[in-house]
Amino acid sequence: MKRAIQVAPSILDADFANLQGELEKITTADWLHLDIMDGHFVPNLSFGPPLVKSLRGKTALPMDAHLMVDNPEALIPLFIEAGVEMITVHIETTPHLHRLVSLIRTEGLKAGVALNPGTPLEGLQLVLPDLDLVLLMTVNPGYGGQKLIRGVLEKVERLRKYIDDRSLNCRIGVDGGINMETAGEVIAAGADHLVAGTYIFGSPDPAAAIRNLKSIMV
Ligand code: DX5
Ligand code: ZN
Repeated sequence: MKRAIQVAPSILDADFANLQGELEKITTADWLHLDIMDGHFVPNLSFGPPLVKSLRGKTALPMDAHLMVDNPEALIPLFIEAGVEMITVHIETTPHLHRLVSLIRTEGLKAGVALNPGTPLEGLQLVLPDLDLVLLMTVNPGYGGQKLIRGVLEKVERLRKYIDDRSLNCRIGVDGGINMETAGEVIAAGADHLVAGTYIFGSPDPAAAIRNLKSIMV
């Protein structure tokens, strides 16, 4: 089922000293992608619930907290309280994925599950019917500005077929190294939710960058 491409700018590479101004440049996006990093699961430390809370009311975009953290169970209540609309947890960070997804959905939020490039799809099967998003990392998480790992495209294709064969409602997101050189390939492979940080906030015209990504026809 072909759906309009969603664009989710990541603020990781935005100007943190002028976040309100940065948010005003991306009002035409579909989601605000918040890269939460704890310096343990990934080798970088970004920001947390207090900053996310301060963004509430400064953007009309629904917020997705991409939790690149160990022990996500402990942080989920804080992001719910901070007012995000979706929480995306890494499958690698919990032995209780079904319980975490159920918790997020019981709280009325959308649920996403992220997989690192080297993580196989197989662990998703049980929770897939309950997911709003599977986020396939196209870089090893921790930093913006990296190159897309092309080997993940085959994972996108397999997941697209699996979801379509079962008429599931879950979107396929890709995250890392997405720009006008790579977006056509990932969309052709089956992605319909594009996270982009450097391409959008590194552009002289972020609104045009968003328009470009949304205009890709495959
Ligand atoms: C990486 C993050 C990505 C990253 C995307 O760990 O999850 O969201 O910020 O940045 P670009 O688009 O610059 O690769
Ligand atoms: Zn991310």
